[in-house]
Amino acid sequence: MQPPLLEVKNVSKVYGSGVLGKQQTVALDNFSLAIAEGTPIITTIAGESGSGKTTLANLVLGLLVPTSGEIRYRGQNIHSLSRSAWFTYRREVQAIFQNPFEVYNPFYRVDHVFHFALRKFSLAPNRREGLALIHEALEVVGLRPDEILGRYPHELSGGQRQRLMIARAFMLKPRLIVADEPVSMIDASLQARILDIFERLNQDFGISFLYITHDLSTAYQISHDIHILYLGQVMERGDITAVMHHPNHPYTQLLVESIPVADPEVRWSGGRARNAAARDNHASQARNSNGAPNNRCRYFP
Ligand SMILES: Nc1ncnc2c1ncn2[C@@H]1O[C@H](COP(=O)(O)OP(=O)(O)OP(=O)(O)O)[C@@H](O)[C@H]1O
Ligand SMILES: [Mg+2]
Repeated sequence: MQPPLLEVKNVSKVYGSGVLGKQQTVALDNFSLAIAEGTPIITTIAGESGSGKTTLANLVLGLLVPTSGEIRYRGQNIHSLSRSAWFTYRREVQAIFQNPFEVYNPFYRVDHVFHFALRKFSLAPNRREGLALIHEALEVVGLRPDEILGRYPHELSGGQRQRLMIARAFMLKPRLIVADEPVSMIDASLQARILDIFERLNQDFGISFLYITHDLSTAYQISHDIHILYLGQVMERGDITAVMHHPNHPYTQLLVESIPVADPEVRWSGGRARNAAARDNHASQARNSNGAPNNRCRYFP
C-alpha cells in the first residue's frame, strides 16, 4: 500500500526553559495525522493561542525535531532523509507564515525571492524560462507582473506581499503548503481572496494544505477536515462539516459557539452565503464529467 504523503506519527514536543531547561512545556502531546498521497486536501489545525499550532508547523517543516514520534514524508522519517531527498522535501513542502511584513529583506526588490528560489532549486534552464515561471505564478495569485516586479517590499500592501509568498511557493510546484495563520494579519476584505487562492491551488493544482488558524469560520470556508488542539492535545478531529455542525467535545462546542456573527442575536449556523457556495462547489466537483465519484473530493460525495 502507498504510504501517505505526510504522516505525523505520535509526535510530542517538549520545550525546556529556565535554568538548565528544568521548566518544561509540553507543546504537543502524542499528535498524529496523515495526508494521503493522491488525495489533495486542506486540513485545518485549530486552537487558541498556545495550543501548539506553530510548534506543529515547525515540526512538519523540519525546523524542530520531535521529542518523540516521527514525521514521515512518503514513508520516510524526514530527519533521516538523504541529502537529495531532503532537498526535494524542502521544495515540495512550502511554508506561508502569518506576518507578510517579516519575510522580506527590505533592501532587495521583491523579485529577489523568486530569483533566489529559481537558482536554489534549478527550476529553469535560462533566465527567459525563469521569468516565464515567475509570471505564471504571479498570475495564478492574481497579481500583475508589471505592477509587482521591480518594487521594494515596503511599496506593496500586506495582501500583495502575502500573495507574493503564495506565488513563490506555487512556483516551486509543492505537494504540501503549511500555512500558519496566513490571513490573520490581512485586511478582512482581502482574506477571502487569499482563501480563494488556497482553494484553487488545492482543487486545480492538487496541492494539499495544513491550514493553521484560530479562526473556525475561515477553516469552515476552505477545509475538508479539522483537528482541534488544546494545550497540545487533540480534543476532536474529523470531517469539517460534521465537527462544525455537531461538535462532540465541550471545548469544540465552546469554540463553535464563540464564532462571531454580524448579528449578536444570531448564533453561528454555518449557513453564510460564501460557505454555502463553497459546499455546492465541492459537491459538484465530487463527481467527474462521467458522473463517477471524484476521489479528490471524498468529503463531499
Ligand atoms: N521555543 C520555545 N521555548 C519554550 N516554550 C515554547 C517555545 N515555543 C513555544 N513554546 C510554548 O509552547 C506552547 C505552544 O506554543 P505555539 O507557539 O506552538 O502555540 P500556538 O498555538 O502557535 O499559539 P499562537 O496562536 O499564539 O500562535 C506555548 O505554551 C508556548 O509558550
Ligand atoms: Mg502560532
